[in-house]
Amino acid sequence: MKAAVVNAHLDQPAVTVTDVPVPAPKPHWVTVRLEAAALNRLDAMMLEHRADEPPGTIYGSDGAGVVVDLGDALTPEPGLSVGTEVVISPSLFWGPSDVAPGDSYEILGSPTPGTHAELVTVPAANVYPKPPHLDWAAAAALPLAGVTAWRAVVTRGGLAPGEKVVVGAASAGVGSMAIQIAAASGAEVVAVTVGADKAAFARRLGATAVVDRSSETFLDDLAAAAAGADLALDPTGVLWQPFLDVLRPGGRLVVVGKMAAPTASVRVQSVYWKQVDILGSSMGSPRDFAALLDHVRDHRWAPPVDSEFPLEQIAEAYARLDSPERAGKVVLRTRPIASQ
Ligand SMILES: NC(=O)c1ccc[n+]([C@@H]2O[C@H](COP(=O)([O-])OP(=O)(O)OC[C@H]3O[C@@H](n4cnc5c(N)ncnc54)[C@H](OP(=O)(O)O)[C@@H]3O)[C@@H](O)[C@H]2O)c1
Repeated sequence: MKAAVVNAHLDQPAVTVTDVPVPAPKPHWVTVRLEAAALNRLDAMMLEHRADEPPGTIYGSDGAGVVVDLGDALTPEPGLSVGTEVVISPSLFWGPSDVAPGDSYEILGSPTPGTHAELVTVPAANVYPKPPHLDWAAAAALPLAGVTAWRAVVTRGGLAPGEKVVVGAASAGVGSMAIQIAAASGAEVVAVTVGADKAAFARRLGATAVVDRSSETFLDDLAAAAAGADLALDPTGVLWQPFLDVLRPGGRLVVVGKMAAPTASVRVQSVYWKQVDILGSSMGSPRDFAALLDHVRDHRWAPPVDSEFPLEQIAEAYARLDSPERAGKVVLRTRPIASQ
């Protein structure tokens, strides 16, 4: 099969699409012929630190496709058989507690070979029927960012209908899906992004107000649009203080990422005086993933796809991930579109 294999030599192209052996089936694992996969910031971050990766490493946490091999021939889940169209949950071996993953936890793609390939083998428990209204690109775009947004906004954030939610990095994977989840759940959504095109994108997803983070009047604009917010989501690391300042007393700030800064400084009093909760959230449990899929099905929303590239053009896909114009997910076509 073809796969995007990571090259540990830093003076050579980061990934090479080449032929590799078909993954060996394991008991209680299934093999999926991928129709599409997607890129995440995680893949790009790991590529920057790839020097120690073993030969044959294949990244990729997001994928959707068709089950082609049930491994030990047990029927692992009701309704799952060869030919079932599935999306893959990227949280491998989460463990029994919903509070946090256990010691064996992995995100698909490291070290378990990932989805930037024509085939992937994953635990049977990690494949779920594809919501029928999603095309392959949207299905592949959903898992990692979608489950992160779900856990952050709903499981950890405790979103209630009618609440006001402010979402940072609104044009990116987690932010765009957080807007959709919150809007479909009956919340009022204020999006933070940059530029007119991304503002229009956020509004199309369900934001009722958009604040431009590049404006000189950003803090005033944010206060005007988001004062009294119940819940705030920051994937960037630089929005902690602005969001703390607009939350209502007793509000919640959920943090999932450090896209723009690995360290956040806050005025301590802005946390305790307003009795604010700061909540960390990461990825999602099997319960989160199943609930996300129910929500997608019930509300018929689809993750936004910015662009699609054939697997062979994965270098261009990574470049698009870093484009300031990108809005939504970057998808890899792991089979030629004509044959899908
Ligand atoms: N903990 C987890 O489980 C988990 C899961 C997924 C992602 N993450 C993390 O969450 C972050 C976002 O991931 P993603 O996949 O949604 O994002 P992404 O697609 O990589 O995009 C990052 C976005 O961050 C915003 N941004 C970049 N620089 C910024 C700055 N200086 N100030 C404010 N915003 C800035 C931009 O959005 P706008 O132009 O719209 O503002 C940009 O598109 C990453 O750090 C990622 O590693 C964590």
